[in-house]
Amino acid sequence: MELDPRTRERSMYRTLTGTVVPRPIGWVSTTGPDGADNLAPYSFFTVASVDPPVLLFSSGDRPGRPEDLSDTARNARETGEFVVNVVTEPFAEAMSETSATLEPGTSEFDHAGVERAASTAVEPPRVAGIEAAYECRLHDTVDVGSNTLVLGEVVHGHLSDDLLTDEGKVDVDEVAAVGRLAGSGYCWTRGRFRMERPD
Ligand SMILES: Cc1cc2nc3c(=O)[nH]c(=O)nc-3n(C[C@H](O)[C@H](O)[C@H](O)COP(=O)(O)O)c2cc1C
Repeated sequence: MELDPRTRERSMYRTLTGTVVPRPIGWVSTTGPDGADNLAPYSFFTVASVDPPVLLFSSGDRPGRPEDLSDTARNARETGEFVVNVVTEPFAEAMSETSATLEPGTSEFDHAGVERAASTAVEPPRVAGIEAAYECRLHDTVDVGSNTLVLGEVVHGHLSDDLLTDEGKVDVDEVAAVGRLAGSGYCWTRGRFRMERPD
């Protein structure tokens, strides 16, 4: 099949999310201006910059209509702070639970039975027990078509000792990240192999 998105009546969502795989899942916690804690998964998520360290996630809502932004993107924009928790195997089911649409006033932390841990440099709590969490201050938001990119500079990181070598470096073999495929499809990151880069 040849694809020309300009002549395509149906959305590209299924095509893109079904082929740009696997995607890591940033589980983003925010605290609203009203003090309510919010937690939601975002698989349109990656590293945007190394120096300064900036992470980004993409919220799929209409740009220029703040009332339609996801709670996460709106809270990040209004408070300037969020925490990205990297989803690993023990947290997969709870992560999925937090993608539910809840009544206003119900926190996804409480709905999914996820314990909060206090953050160090920002107000929103992180997920207690998660192996990698990054506290972020808003760097920028960028409207791109149907989505809003939310970029945050990492101002503090929490890494479990379980992920570290004796020298204090991250050992990726210990990071049991879960990947998003499409729809209800997910993958482990257990089937690993090594390949040296050419000189
Ligand atoms: C694994 C997973 C990944 C998701 N990734 C995204 C994403 O990248 N962008 C997005 O807009 N919604 C994504 N969603 C849907 C949101 O998590 C969902 O709409 C959630 O209710 C938004 O919550 P909020 O309004 O509290 O931010 C994802 C859902 C799941 C289960």
